[in-house]
Amino acid sequence: MHHVDILHVIGDTPLVELRHLSPRPGVHLFAKLEGRNPTGSIKDRIVREMVVEAQRDGRLSPGDRIIEASTGNTGIALAMVGRALGYPVRIVIPENVYPEIPRTITAYGAEITYVPSELGVKKAIDVARTIAADEGWFMLDQFSDPVNIRAHYEGTGPEILAALPHVDLFVAGLGTGGTLMGVGRRLKEANPETRVIAVEPHPGYQVHGLKSLADGFLPPLLDYNVLDGKILVRSGHAFRGAAQLIQREAIFGGVSSGAVLHGALKAIERLPRGNVVLIFADSGWKYLATDMWTQPPADHEEDDLDDVIWW
Ligand SMILES: Cc1ncc(COP(=O)(O)O)c(C=O)c1O
Repeated sequence: MHHVDILHVIGDTPLVELRHLSPRPGVHLFAKLEGRNPTGSIKDRIVREMVVEAQRDGRLSPGDRIIEASTGNTGIALAMVGRALGYPVRIVIPENVYPEIPRTITAYGAEITYVPSELGVKKAIDVARTIAADEGWFMLDQFSDPVNIRAHYEGTGPEILAALPHVDLFVAGLGTGGTLMGVGRRLKEANPETRVIAVEPHPGYQVHGLKSLADGFLPPLLDYNVLDGKILVRSGHAFRGAAQLIQREAIFGGVSSGAVLHGALKAIERLPRGNVVLIFADSGWKYLATDMWTQPPADHEEDDLDDVIWW
């Protein structure tokens, strides 16, 4: 029998067709199920690559400690990789992330530092940088490290092309931009006509009229030339998308999967035919305590939901 360790079962996720959600016979929707990774999200891919690369080029050595700013999935993935390779881990997250996220990070044995909700992920990055500089932690830095993009250019992208050689439209959520840049570039190399659409959480408004996480924050890895369009999605749309996904396709996706589905269905409103690939970055488990599947919110409830960081 062949035995592998946990870091070798990252990637090679399935691409499944969404037969019931396709709006017309010539349009084929395919979803890459990233919830199938060890910690349940696409972020296992980039964290493994960034940590291994840092070991390889000598930025990270045995005995070092690793810190990172995250809204959730990267923190969970790093807590796992750190535990697997023996590095202590500390994650800086805004207070308004969904509660299962810090619980999972803690379960993997990592420490957590919170920043106030209204200061968002931009502040989390600043705090992580300061701790890294003052206390000598190695900062992983998913928002700036091009290895984030490379993990998708060399992994996620080729996996999609191996399963589906002709892609007309690619739709994924925008956080660091790593997925969109890495997969987008690889797909456009294979077929320059492939269009790449980013789905972004609606910034929303938080306490005292301060704007939320994304405001004034341009992900450094993002090159707008790779993008052909951007769709802003509110939490309510994302929740209803996730409900639609499990009801129609029996696929248990997370909030950003619901958002990507909503965005993709908008993007293909006038598409007569073609192959469309969607990234479902995680599955629904960590959002199970919400009512999103049983009682998707009505329109007027959406503003409150937008105060939580979902991806
Ligand atoms: C659930 C989920 N969806 C989408 C994204 C966006 O991915 P990326 O950082 O590659 O842009 C993330 C990462 O922040 C995520 O955790």
